[in-house]
Amino acid sequence: MSNHVLINNKIDSFNKRIKVSSDKSISIRSVLLASQAVGNSRISNLLESEDVLNTLKTIKKLGIDYKKEGNIYIIKGFGLNGFNTEKKITINAGNSGTLARLILGLLVKSKSTVKLIGDKSLSKRDFSRVIIPLKIFGANIKSKNNLLPIEISGSKFLRPISYKENIGSAQVKSCIIFAALNSPGVSKVNSKVSRNHTELMLKYLNYPITIKKEGVYDLISIKGHNQFEGFDYNIPGDISSASFFIVLTLLSKKSKIIIENVNVNKSRIGIIYILNKMGANIKLRNKKIYKGEQIANLHVKSENTLNAINCPAKLNSSAIDEFLIIFLVAAKAKGISRFRDLGEMNKKESKRLDLGISFLKLIGIKVERFKNNINIHGNPDLKLSKKYEMKNFLKDHRIFFLSCITALTLGGSWKINDKDSMNTSFPGFLKTLKKIGAKVY
Ligand code: S3P
Repeated sequence: MSNHVLINNKIDSFNKRIKVSSDKSISIRSVLLASQAVGNSRISNLLESEDVLNTLKTIKKLGIDYKKEGNIYIIKGFGLNGFNTEKKITINAGNSGTLARLILGLLVKSKSTVKLIGDKSLSKRDFSRVIIPLKIFGANIKSKNNLLPIEISGSKFLRPISYKENIGSAQVKSCIIFAALNSPGVSKVNSKVSRNHTELMLKYLNYPITIKKEGVYDLISIKGHNQFEGFDYNIPGDISSASFFIVLTLLSKKSKIIIENVNVNKSRIGIIYILNKMGANIKLRNKKIYKGEQIANLHVKSENTLNAINCPAKLNSSAIDEFLIIFLVAAKAKGISRFRDLGEMNKKESKRLDLGISFLKLIGIKVERFKNNINIHGNPDLKLSKKYEMKNFLKDHRIFFLSCITALTLGGSWKINDKDSMNTSFPGFLKTLKKIGAKVY
């Protein structure tokens, strides 16, 4: 089977109602927390993408059983630090930074020694951001140059910590929270605001965790060594996956879409603020609260006039995975869009800031860069007619999705390689595109 797609036509006008894949962050957290609960947890609509399947394989290797019944994964936990193996094992986190960072937090006290490895992309990513706080907890953790492979073995001498998390990284914050579950006393993390799914899930589980807002920081206190019971969770749709369909609709002619049941947690919807500020009219309807998370249907229609944005850096963390596709909107907007402090983009599955800029230049857009700040000179008349071939050496799923949406909205004749990268987060991406009429071969 070929591992590329060919797109030679823009998408025709559409008026559809779709669902996108389930939320990746919540899927990974629900499996990891279920592995630490006492008794059975039942998780429905779990995202069955590679990052999440690697999470399931990980808990299985650590001695936690699960089975699937219909649409529900039933995970049988033995409580906190209940990983049921004393052997030396290797865990392969594949492409998933979230799995790799979060599982380290749960392993600070484990009975076994675990070697953590990952794919080519994950092996290039820096782990000092979690190794530093874990060592303060007293974890036994070894690595060369803060890169994978990392070896961690349980420590008998853990202590609670107070830590300032200045990156605005939910992976770092969640790793610390997970390590705090297995440490004595009360740990505190003063964390620059980032997605808060871990905190919301623990709150819903009645775990002793408190969160106090202090400007752009959350002061989180976690009391260690409290057990929680197995739980039920129904995973909502992923705003990061929805973002490609939002932009597809926005940049197409006379089209409308409703994207059902999407998680619209405030810490995730930077893209909606940004695009609405640029002239879009994305509406959140049928809002409801589910276990502390906000869920809604997204109503989006095409927009003829989009304006440039001077994007406040305080929105960066709530749109961190969406900037690539936001850049495409800036490319079609009237005026010069300005984005600031986007260095974190280069620490993702690939160097997304560098690649995003190269991509914009490839499609004929002028971009100025000063360190991690960029100015995008939009061109509302932008149309493509040349041949393009995209290679995606580190198989970054979001680069693949961006390329498909560009081809379907701006034209040109595209060969987009590394189709299998979509399995990281959104295995049904091409099927969903075809459902709304895209001609993708
Ligand atoms: C994630 C947090 C973000 C995001 C990643 C998923 C999570 O990373 O980019 O795709 O589930 O916690 P950082 O927390 O490192 O910014």
